[in-house]
Amino acid sequence: MPAMVEFIPETTRSWTTNLDGVPALTLRTSPTPDPHSLPVDHVLVKILSVSLNYKDAEIINGLFKHHKSSVAPPNLIPCADSVGVVVAVGPTSTPTTQASSTSSPPKPKWSINDRVISVSYPLYLTGPAAPALLAAGVGSATNGVLTTYRVFPSHGLVACPPSLTTQPHLACCLPIAGTTAWMGLHWWRPISSSPELFVAGDRSSESLLLQGTGGVSMFGLLFAFAANFAHVILTSGSDEKLARAEELVATAFPKSATKLSTINYRSTPQWHKRVLELTDNEGVDIIFENGGGGSPSTNSTLRSFQCVKFGGIINSIGYVGGKTDILSPSSDSDTAKGAIDGGNDEIAQAMSTNINVHALARNFTLKGLLNGPRDRMEEMLRFVEYHKIKPVVDKVFSFDDARDALQYLWDGKHFGKVVIEVSPDA
Ligand SMILES: NC(=O)c1ccc[n+]([C@@H]2O[C@H](COP(=O)([O-])OP(=O)(O)OC[C@H]3O[C@@H](n4cnc5c(N)ncnc54)[C@H](OP(=O)(O)O)[C@@H]3O)[C@@H](O)[C@H]2O)c1
Repeated sequence: MPAMVEFIPETTRSWTTNLDGVPALTLRTSPTPDPHSLPVDHVLVKILSVSLNYKDAEIINGLFKHHKSSVAPPNLIPCADSVGVVVAVGPTSTPTTQASSTSSPPKPKWSINDRVISVSYPLYLTGPAAPALLAAGVGSATNGVLTTYRVFPSHGLVACPPSLTTQPHLACCLPIAGTTAWMGLHWWRPISSSPELFVAGDRSSESLLLQGTGGVSMFGLLFAFAANFAHVILTSGSDEKLARAEELVATAFPKSATKLSTINYRSTPQWHKRVLELTDNEGVDIIFENGGGGSPSTNSTLRSFQCVKFGGIINSIGYVGGKTDILSPSSDSDTAKGAIDGGNDEIAQAMSTNINVHALARNFTLKGLLNGPRDRMEEMLRFVEYHKIKPVVDKVFSFDDARDALQYLWDGKHFGKVVIEVSPDA
């Protein structure tokens, strides 16, 4: 007889997609998985809150095509990041909480009422990512978490940090955005079991460029301030969002020595030049490259190539500005109008320079990030707990308003994270 809470409804409500757009999301009802016949080392979780990622909207809109091994099933339940409460526990194969090796998933032992966070790539345990791990992606290649009840393998969950257990709408933001930001700051450093490593101020000479005020950037901002970075430069298309970011760090880190500079990439399209001005012409140590491609007027990656410090790191994270480099002048509205300025001209030239030459010129490392492994996620959660970091949530939508929530995210209206409350926290 499995351990379970007394009342579990007979039906589960799930949003589903055939990758045909947010408006076509369909709410379906199905029998709740039988708590009495859970597979070995699986648990049934009542989902409390789900946070949205750019990728979720991209998948639903049929645009997530750059990872060939990530193929969605029909009527996919979307979304990857959630917090829930364990309501039934299946038989366990072993009482141990330790993985037998680094290549086999751990078998954590969950109990009824445990607060748990879902892991976006449950088979990605340590080290570099691999295509086979993508094939187990939650809310991409396998059904996701935009549902009221879901069965998880025990290794597909981690414990919610104690300081956030009563705030599932905050904790659910951690898996993808938190882990990716953490990786962007630490992937080349040895993993640490102690959060002290990042408290001692060993990052106090480093500078960081964050692009946009979405989920990944806001975690980057919080983590960099908590780790005593010297200087964070944040870009946004909105002065209002930049002011919010200044207010956020002033409130969350009132005694911090970290300097925050802001740049509006719309009113300062040659923002890389401003980054150089702000760093005594040296450039920044670390860049979160969220912008990606575009025309000479907007291309973000090419600008990052010009303002990374000699020997610095560019984390290739996203492409909110576009997935292609638009070289043709006729495709570029400014150029077509004959309005190309000196800065854009330089970027247009940089576009025809081989990437190898760019990397050599400033001796930078361009690293493709794919979220992060479980051990790094757990390292990030220790840091979050140590510093009592509160994720930045812009807006919480109801489960029935999931379409509005996803459209709000896709329209880029948010600051930090967008969350859906699936079930009220009892
Ligand atoms: N590689 C990975 O493992 C990984 C993990 C998570 C996310 N990502 C990717 O990283 C990117 C950001 O993800 P997210 O979850 O933080 O997204 P998000 O929360 O949706 O935020 C996106 C933000 O980007 C900003 N933006 C829009 N156009 C921009 C441009 N041309 N240049 C710079 N910023 C721009 C906007 O902020 P403002 O309004 O402030 O300008 C927008 O709110 C996405 O492309 C996502 O797919 C990758």
